[in-house]
Amino acid sequence: MIELRHIQKVFHTPKGDIHACQDVNLTIQTGEIFGVIGYSGAGKSTLVRIINQLEKQTSGEVMIDGEDISLLNPKDLRKKRTKMGMIFQHFNLLWSRTVQKNIELPLEIAGVDKEIRKKKTRELIELVGLQGRENAYPSELSGGQKQRVGIARALANDPSLLLCDEATSALDPDTTEQILDLLKDINHKLGITIIMITHQMEVVQKICHRVAVMSEGKVVEVGRVKDIFEHPQHTVTKRFVRDISSKIDDDKQNENLKKIYPNGILLRLTFDEDISRQPIVSRVMKETTLDISIVSGNLTNTIDSSFGVLIVNVLGGTKQDYENIIQKFQDYHVIVEVI
Ligand SMILES: Nc1ncnc2c1ncn2[C@@H]1O[C@H](COP(=O)(O)OP(=O)(O)O)[C@@H](O)[C@H]1O
Ligand SMILES: [Mg+2]
Repeated sequence: MIELRHIQKVFHTPKGDIHACQDVNLTIQTGEIFGVIGYSGAGKSTLVRIINQLEKQTSGEVMIDGEDISLLNPKDLRKKRTKMGMIFQHFNLLWSRTVQKNIELPLEIAGVDKEIRKKKTRELIELVGLQGRENAYPSELSGGQKQRVGIARALANDPSLLLCDEATSALDPDTTEQILDLLKDINHKLGITIIMITHQMEVVQKICHRVAVMSEGKVVEVGRVKDIFEHPQHTVTKRFVRDISSKIDDDKQNENLKKIYPNGILLRLTFDEDISRQPIVSRVMKETTLDISIVSGNLTNTIDSSFGVLIVNVLGGTKQDYENIIQKFQDYHVIVEVI
């Protein structure tokens, strides 16, 4: 169990004091996947660095299994830290080392015997699904694969805690899903406590049991993910919940539209301020023989321009014709998504 008690962190800067953590109190149960969500600058990374003591708190206690680890001497702290794995947004891999050698690194540092190292690395590679890529260099890997290396390396010393700081923020949605599935699997198989630092509500929704919401250095809300979703209390929490709800609505809306307009293609055209004054739709219509019908529109007018989204159904063409019309819109700097 991890208990943060009255954690304060003040950074003294030439521009004044920054209160990165203000009286943070949290209890994280063993085996839990615990989320910490907040916007940039909320103090999340500072908090996670205090948990592994890469950063010393200004005051407060960091209790791990009943022991205040901030009181440990450097040697004992280093030992403790080997039981805390960490993964990062930008992976932090060594570019001159292969997958295998990156994963082996923490074991080398811990002075583990070569044969045991090899065996352990093989197991880890299998666990994270990187079989066949052992000898690749990080530059030859996709983002998702790089994060798999990061995860394997973090697990090398059999940690009881895995700290993830924006671990999926640099990944596309599909890859994010896969990495989250892997983390869920690891939590389940190995019983490791996972702390997920994120600004993405999808991450919390997908794998966290409980979540703390941080804003301006303070924990403003904490609870079971389901409860937080159903009854957000704080303004910041409400904003996170609203953002994700509208995303889900979009997906549902897309599915419905595809049922209503099964023929041709459906395009979502996004116009920004600079271009929405131009008669783009009529120009594109003149340049094509395809039928374009407007499905829905949501254009917002401001004092000197308008911007927004138009959904159109394009009919009566071949795949090539559709590609051409998409290109035409793009030539006018319209953002085009195929629904
Ligand atoms: N080493 C540091 N020195 C000075 N200020 C810092 C330092 N690290 C973080 N901060 C400040 O502390 C606040 C919280 O930062 P951080 O913990 O990185 O937030 P988050 O991870 O939620 O984006 C920010 O205002 C940031 O600028
Ligand atoms: Mg951060």
